[in-house]
Order: sequence, then C-alpha cells, then structure tokens
Amino acid sequence: MKYHIVTYGCQMNLHESEKIAGILREKGYDEEAPVESADIVVFNTCCIRENAENHAFGNIGALKKLKRERKDMLIAVGGCMAQEEGKAEIIRKKFPFVDILFGTHNLAELGELIERKRLTKKRVFSLKDERGETEDNINPVRTGYPGAWVNIMYGCNNFCTYCIVPYVRGRERSRRADDIVREVEGLVKDGYREITLLGQNVNSYRDGETDFPALLERVAKIGGKYRLRFMTSHPKDFSEKLVDVIAKYPNICRQIHLPVQSGSNRILSLMNRRYTREKYLGEIQMLRKAIPECAVTTDLIVGFPTETEEDFLETLSLVEAADFSSAFMFAFSPRTGTRAAAMDGKVPDDVAKDRLLRLIDFVNERTRKMSARYVGASVEILCEGYDERKGLYLGRDEFGRMGYFPSERNPIGEFVTLKIHSANGISLFGNEEFK
Ligand code: SAH
Ligand code: SF4
Ligand code: F3S
Repeated sequence: MKYHIVTYGCQMNLHESEKIAGILREKGYDEEAPVESADIVVFNTCCIRENAENHAFGNIGALKKLKRERKDMLIAVGGCMAQEEGKAEIIRKKFPFVDILFGTHNLAELGELIERKRLTKKRVFSLKDERGETEDNINPVRTGYPGAWVNIMYGCNNFCTYCIVPYVRGRERSRRADDIVREVEGLVKDGYREITLLGQNVNSYRDGETDFPALLERVAKIGGKYRLRFMTSHPKDFSEKLVDVIAKYPNICRQIHLPVQSGSNRILSLMNRRYTREKYLGEIQMLRKAIPECAVTTDLIVGFPTETEEDFLETLSLVEAADFSSAFMFAFSPRTGTRAAAMDGKVPDDVAKDRLLRLIDFVNERTRKMSARYVGASVEILCEGYDERKGLYLGRDEFGRMGYFPSERNPIGEFVTLKIHSANGISLFGNEEFK
C-alpha cells in the first residue's frame, strides 16, 4: 500500500510529517507515491495565517473527485487546523469525504484511528485537548538528509495576541534532556550532518536544572562532524548565557533566528511580546559583541491593528539598525479566538499590502547588498540537495546563506568549500575549492 503526505506550515510540522510517515509504515503503507495512486492521503495542516488554511481547504477539496473514483482511498486531515474547533467543524460538514481527522495532540494515535476506520467504516474524528507526554516511540521517516530535526519542546505559553499556536499546540512542555541527547547521538552516528533543535520558544526550555544553554552545550559536545541549529528564540528571554555557549562551540551555526515582529514599542506591547525595541537592539548588540560575524534573521508583521505609518517607519528603522541578513515578512491575519482578532483599528487591506511590499523591498535591498559582499570569498557549505531547474547542487553556510555549485560527483552530505563568483538576491554561486 502507498501513502502521500501533504505538509503545510513550520519545521515542527515538517518533522511531524516524518513521524506520520513512520506511523504509516508501521501500518503497512510502505511506499510514498503521487496522490493519484496513494491508498492514504494525509494533510498535515497549518492555521498560522488565513492563506495557509485556504491552501489546505483548496487542496483537500480537490480530492473529492478522486475519492469518488477510488472509494478505498483514505483521506486524513491532521495538524494545527484540524486541532482548531471551528475548522474541524468545517471539515466535518463541508468535506464529508474526509475519513479521519486528528488533532495535534492525537498524532501518536493515528495508527489506531486508521484501524478504527477500517473496522467500523465510519468517519473517525479524534481531538484531544492536551497531550501530557513528550515521548512517542515513533520512528520518523527522515526526509531531510543530511539535516535532521529534533523536537526539544512542544506547545507555547506566550500568547502573543495575534497568534493561534498556543491554542492549537497547548501548553509548553519540554522533553527530557537525556532523551534529546540520546536522539542526537544516534543521528550523528547515522551520518546526519546538521541537527536542528525545534521549539516554539527554545529559550524557555527546562528539564530540572537543565535550561536551554545547558542543553545546547550538551548537544554541541557530543563529538563528530555535524553542526547545530535551533529555532525559534524569543527575544524576551534571549540570554548572555546562550550567547556564551554559541561563542564557545564552533559547531553551533552563527545564525540566530530572533523574530522581532515590529519596531514600534506601542505595537510590541499590543502584541504582548514583552520586550521593547531598545531591549531587542540591546540583545543584538550583546550578541555581535561576543560573535561579530553572527547573522541575525527575523520575522516581521505589518498591518497589526492600529498600526500607523509612524509605527511602520519604526519597523523600517529597526530593520536598518539590526542589520538582519534576511527576514520572513507577513501581513497581519486575524485568527479567530486570539485577542488581536477582537481589537479595534483594523488596518485596511490595501494599506497593509502596501506596507508589506515596501518592507520586502527594504529588507531585500539590504540582503542583496550583503550577498554582494561575498563575491570573491570562500564559504563552507553543507551540501543538502540538487536544484533540478538550475542544474546545480546547493547547501547553506553556517550563516544561513544558500550557495549553488556544479559538481561531477554527488556531494550531498559533504561539507564543501566554495569560491563565490556571483550573487543573486540571497543566493550565492561558486565553484568548489579543492585544497
Ligand atoms: N514561535 C515562533 C514563531 C511561530 S509563527 C516565535 O515566537 O517567533 C511564525 C511567524 O508567523 C511569527 O513569528 C509571526 O511573524 C507570524 N505570525 C504568527 N501569527 C500571525 C498572524 N496572525 N498574522 C500574521 N503573521 C503571523
Ligand atoms: Fe506564537 Fe508568540 Fe508563541 Fe511564537 S511565542 S508561537 S508567536 S504565541
Ligand atoms: Fe507551525 Fe502552522 Fe502550527 S506555523 S505550529 S504548523 S499553526
């Protein structure tokens, strides 16, 4: 039997799809296949912004016809959107051909749900409120070689007023440090070369005495040729202790993803981010003092309720001051049930869109200039794939920059040094340097 998984959303979801694949393999679905020939199709959804949901609804809806022709095919919908009550209701009513719906807290039960569906022939909807345990005994089918994702914590307690994640992922819970270290050791032994530790807010990780910097240090010390990344850091508890650990271990990538969201203190306070622009810039200064070359990337939202042109200009000036190497940029999308969705002062869509385009230009211009400075330099990348369209291999350096190069052999999984001859946007192009 064959399976097909469609994933939306963040790295957390990408990794959970690997776990879903692990469960499906145990259930006898032993091969991945295109949707047309799959015996089960699983949608692992995201509800962070409206367009993520619309995408998923559109693609689920598109299966209606196929399902009519192939009655035995199972369709399952899981992930963050499935966990949201209102959206689960829409799937129940408007998508009667969906066989199984499972929430974020029910992932480990997917095998049983499939079994139940096979036995009863009835639709199976399973939505738990909260999952307590942090270990699941699922063998993920890893798809990111030479990279591997490792969860260190689940959920979020921050309740940024725009964000749905705390509602669909539940309260913060950390995995045991020993379990994490053991998992990473196994991955390194298996030849993975880049380990990314995942959590919505890794800086609030805690297992007894072990906080995030202590965990990171344990994982950095394992030994072997691999590098470490982690995401996401929340500026409200970014610490000097963390910076010291990064500075001490060269295998921790010199790139921090530190979402700032806005440069206006008034908006930051309405967002419940619990830091000011001054505190944020102070952290960046502290970081660069210790590790001058460290790249900082960020997330930015425009069009939050009541955002004025002045607030927006403060975001631009923060972008300038922080010297980000790149950014993910979004227009505010109201999420039912969050505090921001009920706030007055909606920014008209055309204004938000205009600000988003201006912000993208502003950020990209800086990114381009930064990339251009790399021309002529040597950078070490970890080759992670092949770009069919460009006909080039690709990989990222420790600062998160993508480098492309031609090769006669298959260098995926190798650390390769490139001499950069040109740059385009955030991409660098070069040739392998052999020493
Ligand atoms: N836990 C991470 C981010 C999770 S969501 C953190 O705290 O940084 C990823 C990004 O999506 C956020 O950083 C934010 O910029 C954006 N985002 C979240 N909710 C949003 C919404 N309602 N509208 C627009 N962007 C949103
Ligand atoms: Fe959402 Fe804020 Fe939690 Fe990030 S820290 S997941 S933005 S509530
Ligand atoms: Fe991730 Fe989207 Fe859920 S960003 S945590 S998959 S809402």
